Amino acid sequence: MTEKSPKPTAASRVTLTQLMLPHHANGLGHVHGGVIMKMVDETAAIAAMRHAQRPCVTVAIDSMTFRERIEIGELLSCTAMVNYVGRTSMEVGVKVSAENPITGETTHTNSAYLVFVALGEDDRPCSVPELTLDSDEAKRRYEEGAERQQYRLAQRQKRARSKSGPDEP
Ligand SMILES: CC(C)(COP(=O)(O)OP(=O)(O)OC[C@H]1O[C@@H](n2cnc3c(N)ncnc32)[C@H](O)[C@@H]1OP(=O)(O)O)[C@@H](O)C(=O)NCCC(=O)NCCS
Repeated sequence: MTEKSPKPTAASRVTLTQLMLPHHANGLGHVHGGVIMKMVDETAAIAAMRHAQRPCVTVAIDSMTFRERIEIGELLSCTAMVNYVGRTSMEVGVKVSAENPITGETTHTNSAYLVFVALGEDDRPCSVPELTLDSDEAKRRYEEGAERQQYRLAQRQKRARSKSGPDEP
């Protein structure tokens, strides 16, 4: 397979699991949101790099909602897969879950979408392989990812029109 041959989503799918320990806690004793966000970004970056077979940087993270607390002693798992690819960018979806390792009870706590850009030798965006859409689910994910990307780029254009320079809070 050459670097630019199309690839199935299964080729880059990845799950990271980590036991949540006291140093992962916030002031209330639950898992700190920043710990979850970091692991989401890392897992998604692995999926993007596996797909592109190039170093990748995060260019956008969609809003994240925390619906469930994750407790110390639980296993935090992030599963990432590439949903959509443009020319140099990839949308990666991440599913976050918390598992009680003793009982096996597992809760899907939240999901996130991130966009990565592959970098070439010159440190500039470079093209990535296309996705092989080998199932109805892969096609659905691709189409939904394409719609989200269209929305992100429209938002970017709107921001660029209203101001110059990076986004402000
Ligand atoms: C990512 C980066 C290399 C892009 O450079 P750029 O000059 O803006 O490149 P482009 O405008 O050609 O965009 C590259 C791709 O990103 C996409 N993109 C750019 N901004 C985006 C946004 N806000 N949302 C979604 N996609 C975006 C473009 O659509 C393009 O995708 P395509 O080739 O598939 O169509 C540059 O912005 C950068 O280095 N950012 C900092 C990254 C970083 O530090 N991340 C955190 C640590 S990993």
